[in-house]
Amino acid sequence: MTYPRVASFKTAEAFRRYLRDIGVGFDLDDALESAPASPLAQAIDVEGVRVGNRFCVLPMEGWDGTRDGGPSDLTRRRWRHFGVSGAKLIWGGEAVAVRHDGRANPNQLMLTPATQSGIACLRNDLVAAHRERFGANADGDLYIGLQLTHSGRYARPVEKMRSEPLAAYQHPFLDRRFPDGIRLISDEDLDRLVDQFVAAARLAWDAGFAFVDVKHCHGYLGHELLSARDRSGRYGGCFENRTRFLRSVVDGIRANVPRLAVGVRLSAVDTVPFSKDANGVGVAETSPAGYRWAFGLLDDRMDAALTDARELLALLERLGVRWVCVTAGSPYYNPHVQRPALFPPSDGYTPPEDPTLGVARHIDATAQLKAAFPSLVIVGSGYSYLQDWLPHVAQQSVRRGLTDFVGLGRMVLAYPDLPADVLEGRALQRKRICRTFSDCTTAPRLGLVSGCYPLDPMYLHHPDAERLKALKKEP
Ligand SMILES: Cc1cc2nc3c(=O)[nH]c(=O)nc-3n(C[C@H](O)[C@H](O)[C@H](O)COP(=O)(O)O)c2cc1C
Repeated sequence: MTYPRVASFKTAEAFRRYLRDIGVGFDLDDALESAPASPLAQAIDVEGVRVGNRFCVLPMEGWDGTRDGGPSDLTRRRWRHFGVSGAKLIWGGEAVAVRHDGRANPNQLMLTPATQSGIACLRNDLVAAHRERFGANADGDLYIGLQLTHSGRYARPVEKMRSEPLAAYQHPFLDRRFPDGIRLISDEDLDRLVDQFVAAARLAWDAGFAFVDVKHCHGYLGHELLSARDRSGRYGGCFENRTRFLRSVVDGIRANVPRLAVGVRLSAVDTVPFSKDANGVGVAETSPAGYRWAFGLLDDRMDAALTDARELLALLERLGVRWVCVTAGSPYYNPHVQRPALFPPSDGYTPPEDPTLGVARHIDATAQLKAAFPSLVIVGSGYSYLQDWLPHVAQQSVRRGLTDFVGLGRMVLAYPDLPADVLEGRALQRKRICRTFSDCTTAPRLGLVSGCYPLDPMYLHHPDAERLKALKKEP
């Protein structure tokens, strides 16, 4: 299966024609505007907080922390890059575990009293880099949060290659991926975890973060609880029980850290799990008909799939949570949904669709949720596959109010200061544009640090680059 390269569309009109041909609904602006006129340069004011423009850096972990959960030089470098990007919203930095058994890998950051000062330094380094690049007072409208997580089913706290899944419920399809079995987290342990999230939120506030993201996406524990329809007890079954964890964490933060804002990153839609067919192409493992283990199951209608997310966002509105980052699926069981790419990661599959359709799904879900909840501040994800045309789509999406912020993930690893180039009216540096080679996902799947090996000169010459090349050649 081959799809045209995005770089082959030499004009906005040519790309637009292609979008029409494949039947996607989003559009792009023909010309980019720079600051101060650009829609992307407009500040947004929310409950006394000013965020200086509409670019957001999405959370991106590097599998490069220390064994005790503190940052390394590589972590610090990544956060400095976030600071020089020019984006004014930093959504979470990267996933930070609230306790040891919730780490997705032994090098994931973990927020404890022992690591707090190191994690505070990440934020300080980001701010310093932002000031150096944009001026001494430039951080007045920079809004920085920390993403808090428990990796649940995808925990690997001790060894990079050994899963120690702590799942919300028995899953008839995903459990097969864990030959040694899964453990279910008990209600009492979830009660404890609520307290541990609240304690971590306190540490985040004391470290200088303005908000925390109570992560509910990508198949990790918070997200899995949302679809725990078959779980018995206080955290499963009805909507009220499936959101008990989220509500309790938000209430706990309100009671104990009242000035800390709360955001939620949500996989708003999901699919059945995908795996490789005999030709290496992604194929659904089962039919969506009767599938009850997803939150926001996509069959064919986006509007219907968003029923779950609308119920959740209504709840968040009632809880006074204003900040929502919309994402989709999981990198583990439907990577083409979560991070559309032309080249699959090592544990993925050849995309079963033009990745542009994956981007369109993100844009559509985000726009429908923004329209339904105009008072929420909405961040969209999944734009990196747009490559050369990302800024043109971003500008139009914000101009038309389809999203409040355009979140950037992989593009920031390859080309951190793309937002600054756009806002300052410079032409894009084409050699730095992320081409979705997926090495940033493949490397950690093979036990190496994550980064942009093809385009970031530092990773190109990192010792792990040779190992990555060798491991990719292995059958
Ligand atoms: C290497 C890598 C690390 C990531 N780490 C996180 C993370 O820590 N937390 C999170 O919510 N998403 C994480 N993501 C997902 C991104 O935030 C983003 O949703 C995804 O890459 C799609 O956006 P993009 O098209 O701009 O890359 C990660 C993605 C990659 C490629």
